[in-house]
Amino acid sequence: MPLLRRPLLALARSERVRHTLTTLPVATSMVRQYVAGETTDDAVAATRSLVDDGLAVTIDHLGEDTVEPEQAERTTRVYLDLLDALAAHGLARRAEVSLKLSAVGRTLPRDGYALALENAHRVVEAARAVGTTVTLDMEDHTGVDDTLAILRELRRDHPSTGAVLQAYLHRTEGDARDLAYEGSRVRLCKGAYDEPASVAMRDADEIDRAFVRSLRILMAGQGYPMVATHDPRLIRIASSLASRHGRHQGTYEFQMLHGIRPVEQRRLAEDGETMRVYLPYGTDWYAYLTRRLAERPANLSLFLTSLVSQ
Ligand code: FDA
Repeated sequence: MPLLRRPLLALARSERVRHTLTTLPVATSMVRQYVAGETTDDAVAATRSLVDDGLAVTIDHLGEDTVEPEQAERTTRVYLDLLDALAAHGLARRAEVSLKLSAVGRTLPRDGYALALENAHRVVEAARAVGTTVTLDMEDHTGVDDTLAILRELRRDHPSTGAVLQAYLHRTEGDARDLAYEGSRVRLCKGAYDEPASVAMRDADEIDRAFVRSLRILMAGQGYPMVATHDPRLIRIASSLASRHGRHQGTYEFQMLHGIRPVEQRRLAEDGETMRVYLPYGTDWYAYLTRRLAERPANLSLFLTSLVSQ
């Protein structure tokens, strides 16, 4: 594990640092690299430009660990407005949304689960009404059981609802087996949180091998695997597993984060692959950005310079 990863991930949870940094204008160069902008209009404009380049999109309204029901309600409404805007601009066929259940109430002490389920249901209904889908992001390991339980409930009425599995968790191969059924959309990523060794692998090579094991299960299964990585080796392995299992393009997809390896994103799309860009927007970019810096601490000095020189 790189030396700076753990302290950076700890900072992602620091309210004091978050407050100091997020009061600065969003337009620092590092934030701009990863985040589409602050408003729904910004998200729609960035989506339009990606779609015009042949890419598919999943949009995330930034924010997590909601501390009051009113905030969960505001976030839910933002998603409903976003879905309306995607439909109004003719983008709903190529753009879906990604939702963190903690942003719509999951972590609230009283009735958090029920509130998150209700709010997620509203978002999923609205997505279906405009002809698109929702994928539930996966947060730290304490939320995995609730997220998968909410996924099961949502899928009763909306079977196209997707979810994320994190390869670094010891449990994930089992979850991948459970979710490799027909119609099931599963986004497989390495995992971005600072997890204890009791629940997650921490060695990079070990995580890569675990990623391949879960990917094999998903590619061999009946579902729709969404391969969420920027790692060139894993992308090559995904392509060869897809052909080994007789999957043609369009029966699985690649996904990357906005601002990371954009040339590779376009190359995959030009090769005929479905390539979906995860596009975050909003003012609450702090936790998201620190997770990205933890993946690549070399970006940190660039970030600090951009803060000082603004
Ligand atoms: P790895 O970190 O090894 O990076 C491989 C290569 O990609 C690097 O060598 C570098 O070239 C490039 N790269 C990676 N990160 C970079 C960065 N920040 N800046 C610049 N270059 C970078 N996690 C989670 O826990 N829950 C979730 O719900 C999601 N959702 C999600 C959706 C999508 C579409 C993606 C692509 C990723 C996620 N993640 C996530 C994040 C994921 O778990 C993981 O932390 C990152 O994708 C980085 O891991 P890689 O697989 O890219 O490999």
